[in-house]
Amino acid sequence: MTDTDARPLVAVVPGDDAAPEAMTASLGVLDALDLPVRLDILPDGAELGRMEAGEREAFVIERLDAADTVLFGSSNGTTPGLAHLRWGRGTFANVRPVQWRPGYRSPMARPEGLDYVIVRENLEDAYVGIMGNVEDLRASGLIGPRARLVYEGEGRYAAKIITRAGTERVARFSYQLALKRAERSGRHPSLTVSAKTNMLPATDRYFADIVAEIGAEFPDVKLTRYIVDDMAHRLVTSYDELDVLLLPNLYGDVLSDLAAGTVGGMGLAPSGCYSENYAYFESAHGTAPDIAGQERINPTATLLSAVMMLEHLGLDRPAARLDAALSAVYAEGRHLTVDQGGTATTSEFAAAVTDRL
Ligand code: IPM
Ligand code: MG
Repeated sequence: MTDTDARPLVAVVPGDDAAPEAMTASLGVLDALDLPVRLDILPDGAELGRMEAGEREAFVIERLDAADTVLFGSSNGTTPGLAHLRWGRGTFANVRPVQWRPGYRSPMARPEGLDYVIVRENLEDAYVGIMGNVEDLRASGLIGPRARLVYEGEGRYAAKIITRAGTERVARFSYQLALKRAERSGRHPSLTVSAKTNMLPATDRYFADIVAEIGAEFPDVKLTRYIVDDMAHRLVTSYDELDVLLLPNLYGDVLSDLAAGTVGGMGLAPSGCYSENYAYFESAHGTAPDIAGQERINPTATLLSAVMMLEHLGLDRPAARLDAALSAVYAEGRHLTVDQGGTATTSEFAAAVTDRL
């Protein structure tokens, strides 16, 4: 490694519980791709856990910031870095593809039409961390008439914030993604936005209205609006009408897991978090502590996140090769992990993907 090395530097964070098993297996596959990248592999959560918390955080963040991008294994809180990668780096668009492939164990009767992308606003909404005692709200006069009917005594509150600037940028990102996807699919570009617009006009209707307003810059993209409870139903009944679905942060968190369930489970759910000039990539699932140490975790979510990362780095050919190898292993169906009805271990599945490259 020299300072003049032009190859991008990828920080690899193995994560906690079962996540390092998915990452180790995935790195074996990436190794076979012989990529023009440099990897900086960080210690896993078990090792990081031996450091004092503050020191650990500084140590990880320094390594993350030294890299051009990050492949992040799931964290149970022991491995730090997630908050830095989101709020510290301003990655405002969390992109979560929802795509069924032959061989995925979907619970849906007709999963063939499942091919859309959730864009989850990644920084605002209920994730701003404004929480406290209802007492303080009462003191500030912020308790409205309906709350007064049900609220007496002790309680807590959490606030959500939706800003114009934050909504405009994620809206533009989503319209652009809709145009890009339409170019590839030949379908009419379409964006769906959803929030609890009827009950929460101050935040949720505001969000949807701004998205509609930005639509004037993208006259070719058809915008559809649904209230978010109806949207949840539609993710199960009418998913084939969806292409790009934009959601505020918390609904995006909840509905992207629902969406992953329709495809065949969290083990298949990749994601990438983007700002204007930076992005990092992580599986959308948790650390699966119940199967840690058993070589059972499905590394597909990590590998599909790596596909997104390679595309981000402009490495379209290896990205397409990896993507096709994954599809081939599922279509063949002989080396699937337990969550997909197979008996393959994490590394056996990964070896099958490598064989297909
Ligand atoms: C996700 C996860 C995170 C979130 C957790 C781990 C903080 O559920 O990426 O979807 O809520 O955003
Ligand atoms: Mg989540």
